[in-house]
Amino acid sequence: MPGLVIVGAQWGDEGKGKVVDLLGERAHSVIRFQGGNNAGHTIVRGDETFKFHLIPSGILYEDCNCVIGNGVVVDPRVLIEEIDGLRRQRVDLRGLKVSANAHLIMPYHLLLDHAGEAKLGKREIGTTKRGIGPCYADKAARLGIRVQDILDEKILRQKIAAALEPKRLTLREFEKDPRLDMHQMVEDYLAYGQRLAPHIADTPPIAWQGLDEGRLVIFEGAQGTLLDIDHGTYPFVTSSNTVAGAACSGAGVGPKAIDEIWGIAKAYCTRVGAGPFPTELHDQLGDRLRKAGHEFGTTTGRERRCGWLDMVALRYSARINSLTGLVLTKLDVLTGIDPIRVAVRYAGAEDATFEDFPYHQSVLHHASGEYVDLPGWDEDITGARTLEELPANARRYLEFIEEQLGIPVVTIGVGPARDEIIWTDAAASIAAA
Ligand code: IMP
Repeated sequence: MPGLVIVGAQWGDEGKGKVVDLLGERAHSVIRFQGGNNAGHTIVRGDETFKFHLIPSGILYEDCNCVIGNGVVVDPRVLIEEIDGLRRQRVDLRGLKVSANAHLIMPYHLLLDHAGEAKLGKREIGTTKRGIGPCYADKAARLGIRVQDILDEKILRQKIAAALEPKRLTLREFEKDPRLDMHQMVEDYLAYGQRLAPHIADTPPIAWQGLDEGRLVIFEGAQGTLLDIDHGTYPFVTSSNTVAGAACSGAGVGPKAIDEIWGIAKAYCTRVGAGPFPTELHDQLGDRLRKAGHEFGTTTGRERRCGWLDMVALRYSARINSLTGLVLTKLDVLTGIDPIRVAVRYAGAEDATFEDFPYHQSVLHHASGEYVDLPGWDEDITGARTLEELPANARRYLEFIEEQLGIPVVTIGVGPARDEIIWTDAAASIAAA
């Protein structure tokens, strides 16, 4: 005990990094199990700022094993930049391990991501253009280049040639792009291999060891449940499984290794990129949430779309992830808003209503939230460290969420700083494992 999975319960950017950072201090290991450098978060420690895209934030603790699992897609250039940046900040990187089975983002994946979006035009997904989708597509097509391949020139050359062959037609417009020079690509990736070699490992045994010793092993997801390729708002999703179940395949453990599953949700909702968003606010209140919550992407700098908390989506998320606890972040952003609206069902076309998250794309595109209004609060809550220190209406908001979900709110974010958080007893006992 315990294997703890941390997943985003909404559309990503819920603040997983901060929670993992706080728990990482006690953990044997933190293992990222999917996604790539489409994710990102910032950790502030004293007057130093650390920016992460691929490396789990547990790296700031010397005794924590930080693993980029086999389910992740790795852009080695970005990873090396991140390693160099952390080294300049005097972070000890000996605990960083990268699965030899993780797939590599190649220069042609980036070009294909751009080309794919350009082709879709107005119907674009709004991807982060980091090559994530094309890389996972190659993985499924068994044309992927894996981390282990950059340690062997002959294999690397053969695999790149095989991967490029079926893409010639699509890549024709980039024919003269120096990034597609096969010789250069092999050279570059072999050089990356040399740099990454000390970190490349068979990673599942790291998790097994921690679990066998009864230590805290954290499985860290990226993006959020509604961006899951199977269970999210397809096709406006990322190209991997973001749900808790993916922790097993993406890290190399069985379902019995998981004891607790925490979903991270904001006290409201945001989304970047295109796709349905039934509680989206297009008015000044949306702008207010964006400003107060600093809702601009860490990775792409894009403005995030903002809206009210959506309990239809959150109930779905609790179910599909088997959540055992909810971490509610950014509660302070709601301070001063009265009433606070929460969607409890959707209204659809032809007077239809939906208590459950609609599986059908067209239905979801026409859905809008039906709301319950809850009373707000004006008091500054950033100093609260216990539930009792919160205003009664803030506590009422949390209780409403718990009733709707049937699971406890275990931790509450009350401000941007590291210590601006309320740990309930349930959360503290996990952290102390
Ligand atoms: P991709 O993952 O770059 O292919 O983008 C697919 C969709 O997922 C787009 O709507 C992105 O905006 C969204 N997305 C990818 N990563 C994140 C993230 O870390 N936070 C929020 N949205 C993301």
